[in-house]
Formats: sequence, structure tokens, C-alpha cells
Amino acid sequence: MLKPDHHILVCASFRGTEPKGKCIKKDSLQLIPYIEEEVLERGLNVMVSSTGCLKLCEDGPVVVVYPEAYWYKGVTNEEAVDEILDSLENGGPAEKYLLT
Ligand code: FES
Repeated sequence: MLKPDHHILVCASFRGTEPKGKCIKKDSLQLIPYIEEEVLERGLNVMVSSTGCLKLCEDGPVVVVYPEAYWYKGVTNEEAVDEILDSLENGGPAEKYLLT
């Protein structure tokens, strides 16, 4: 893989070795295969990774896009992922899900 243009981080709730936060309970990990599929389909040079708890549990599932540093909240479904990827392709954030 080339060095990615963007890195999408999906909170997997780990604190230490245990998934103790809330995002995983809201099925955050179910989003990863869909994001990877969409990234491929759209021909984007994006890496997708799971992370430990990002300390914003009440707003989860939390997804972060770097290097833009877009922090998203409430990414609960494929529609939200689509909006985030559409916005990324258009060069901006998906305002509706941005953490402020
Ligand atoms: S579990 Fe995702 S922010 Fe804490």
C-alpha cells in the first residue's frame, strides 16, 4: 500500500486490553468492513484502523479522519459513513457529524 492520503480511525473502545467504552457497544466495529469496501469502490487511498477509547464516549461512535483532523460523533450507520466519505471526496468535513 502507498502511504495513505487519509487515515480513518474508528473507535473500538479499548482501555488497556478491554473494550470498556461505549462505541463498541453501539456497533462501531461493524462500520469498518463497510468503510473499507466503500474506500475501495471509490478508489480512495485511505487506511482504516480501529483505536482505543477516544475519550468521547457519550458522543460515540467516534470516527476521526486525518490529516484533516475531522472528529465525528454519532457515526452509527452506513448513511453516516457515506456522508463522511462524500465530504472527504469533496474536500471538506461532513458538518452534520462534526464534533465541535
Ligand atoms: S469508547 Fe469510543 S470514545 Fe470512548
